[in-house]
Amino acid sequence: MTDKHQNDPIRVGVIGLGFAGETALKCYSILPNVQIVALAGLEEERLAQLGATFAIPHLYSKYEDLLARDDLDAVSIGVPNHLHAPVAIAALERGLHVLCEKPLARTSTEATAIVQAASKANRVLQVVFNHRERNDVQTLKRYLDEGQLGEIYYAKAYWMRRQGIPGAGSWFVNKEMAGGGPLIDLGSHVLDMALYLLDEPSVVTVSASTYNKLGMQGVGIDPRARKSGANHQYEVEDLATAFLRLSNGATLLLESSWATYSSAQNDYGIVLYGTKGGAELRVRNYNTENTLTIFKDVDGAPTDIHPTVQGGGFHNAVVSSFIDKIVSGNWSLYDGSEGLRRVRVIDACYDSAAQGKEVTLTTYYLHLQ
Ligand SMILES: NC(=O)c1ccc[n+]([C@@H]2O[C@H](COP(=O)([O-])OP(=O)(O)OC[C@H]3O[C@@H](n4cnc5c(N)ncnc54)[C@H](O)[C@@H]3O)[C@@H](O)[C@H]2O)c1
Repeated sequence: MTDKHQNDPIRVGVIGLGFAGETALKCYSILPNVQIVALAGLEEERLAQLGATFAIPHLYSKYEDLLARDDLDAVSIGVPNHLHAPVAIAALERGLHVLCEKPLARTSTEATAIVQAASKANRVLQVVFNHRERNDVQTLKRYLDEGQLGEIYYAKAYWMRRQGIPGAGSWFVNKEMAGGGPLIDLGSHVLDMALYLLDEPSVVTVSASTYNKLGMQGVGIDPRARKSGANHQYEVEDLATAFLRLSNGATLLLESSWATYSSAQNDYGIVLYGTKGGAELRVRNYNTENTLTIFKDVDGAPTDIHPTVQGGGFHNAVVSSFIDKIVSGNWSLYDGSEGLRRVRVIDACYDSAAQGKEVTLTTYYLHLQ
C-alpha cells in the first residue's frame, strides 16, 4: 500500500471480468476520489475491451501479478467463489483493503481465515451485499427502526427463479468452485437482507433441505447467462429451503431456487410479520417500483400503505461505502465478520440438509465473541 497524503485518490485494482468485475469498474469510475489502476482476468479480449473502456493503465491475466504491484490501496474481487479465500487473503497480506463479492467464501472455515487476515492486517474487508442498498429496503429499514411494525416475530426471505441457472456448465454449477447452488448464490443476498432488517439476531438453529431435480436434467438454464466455464457437470442443488430459529425468538423461512415450475420469473423478497404491523417487499425481475407494502391498522381499520420509493442504491452504494470506510481510517471496525456470519448460516444449512436434521449453530459463534 502506498504512503498516502490526505487528498490522494484511492488506487484500486479489480479482479474478474464478468458481471461482478464490470459492475465494480462502473461504480469506481464515477467516484471522484478513486483511480482504477489495474485490472485482471483470464479472457484476453474482454480484458483489453474493459481496459480500453475504463482507461485502465495496467492489465493482467493472473491476479497474482496484479497483487504484486506496490501502488494499490484496495482491490475488488469478482472471481468464482473458490478463489475468494486465496485472493482475499493474499490481498490482505499485501496490506490492501478488500471488497469481496458475495458469498465471502464457500465455507465458514475459509471465511474465518479471511476475516482473521483482515483483522491481522488491520484493513477494511467488506462483502458486496448490494440488494440491501435498494431504496425500498432502506425505506423498510426506517419503518423498522422507528418501531412502526413493533416486534417482528416471523419472517420469510426468498429468491426464486423459473429458469435462472447461471449458464449451462458454468463454474456456478460445479460444487468445488461454487460451494453450492442457489442457496449460496441467491440465498446469500436475501439472508443478508433479512438479518440486516431484523437487526442482526444470531441464528440459533437451522433445518434445511436441498434438491437437485431440474438442474441435473438440464432444465431451467438461463439462456442469456454469460458466465465463465462451460463444461461442468450440474452438481449443486437447484432449490433449497430452510427454517431458521433466531436468538430473539423469531423464526425465518429462507427459500432459494434457480429453477422451479412456478409462477416465479426472477423474484425475490421479504415478508415480515410484526406486533404492530407487517411488510411485504416483492421484487420481480429486479423492478424498483411498487415493490413495498406496509400493513397497519389505521384508526382501527386494516390499511395497506404503499410508500413511494424510487430506484437507486445497489452496487454504487456498496462501492462508495467501501471507499468511505477506507477514507475514515477506522479500518478495524470493518473486518468482514458480517459476511462471515452469513457464510456460517449457509454452511449450517448445507450441513443440515446433508444430515437430514436440525443443526445448532451455537458453537459456530463461540470463538467470535
Ligand atoms: N453482488 C452481485 O449482484 C453479484 C452478481 C453476480 C455475481 N456475483 C459474484 O461475483 C463473483 C463472480 O461472478 P461473475 O458472475 O462475475 O462470474 P463470471 O464467470 O462472469 O466471471 C468470473 C471472472 O473471474 C475471472 N477469473 C477466474 N480465475 C481467475 C484468475 N486466476 N485470475 C484472474 N481472474 C480470474 C474470470 O476470468 C472471469 O472474468 C461470484 O462470487 C458471484 O457470486 C455477485
